[in-house]
Amino acid sequence: MHDALATLRDASTPPDIFRRVARRMSLLIAAEVLKEVPTIEGTVQTPLGAAFARRVGARVTLVPVLRAGLGMIDGVLDLLPTARVGHIGLQRDETTALASRYYVKLPPDLEDDVVLVTDPMLATGGSAVAAIDLLRAAGARDIRFVCVVAAPEGIAAIERRYPDVPIYTPVVDRELNAHKFIVPGLGDFGDRLFGTV
Ligand code: PRP
Ligand code: URA
Repeated sequence: MHDALATLRDASTPPDIFRRVARRMSLLIAAEVLKEVPTIEGTVQTPLGAAFARRVGARVTLVPVLRAGLGMIDGVLDLLPTARVGHIGLQRDETTALASRYYVKLPPDLEDDVVLVTDPMLATGGSAVAAIDLLRAAGARDIRFVCVVAAPEGIAAIERRYPDVPIYTPVVDRELNAHKFIVPGLGDFGDRLFGTV
């Protein structure tokens, strides 16, 4: 995980490598999330007999926050190929850093799902809280926030408003700069993922 993070942070990593490593990183984080998803125990027949089996026991819905969150879904789907996928489009204003919504498409009946919000950068937390607001309004109860780099401010923002939403992050960076970018962070994840720098 930290090897992948080093590649993502490295300013010289080109978009094709960045995409591939973001996918691998997301799979590794998803494996951590899966440790805390309800399971069903049973048996399975091997060619030589019955074996104890434990399977994922909840329906999982992924909700990437566009655009950057898209870079995480393939890795999570590698582990959970049957997950449903909703989309929330949020864009931070470059001056105020306030997130505004431009697109929402969610699967129905979220009440009993484990809902994984993927958004790689948790900076001020404005986008994360806006995404969770939308999901709560749509009926989701078990929401988990999954990112690649978090700032203390973003973690505090989620914990203040949604203390019941766990945050999965491999690293918490030092601070936000004057433009509300995470320092040292990795820059603009969406731009680096899609080559729009
Ligand atoms: C980035 C990032 C998060 C948000 C985090 O998205 O992907 O969604 O900023 O910042 P916050 O915690 O201060 O809200 P951005 O708005 O730049 O859009 P993009 O994904 O389309 O690049
Ligand atoms: N969005 C990013 O992509 N990077 C940051 O550091 C903050 C918000």
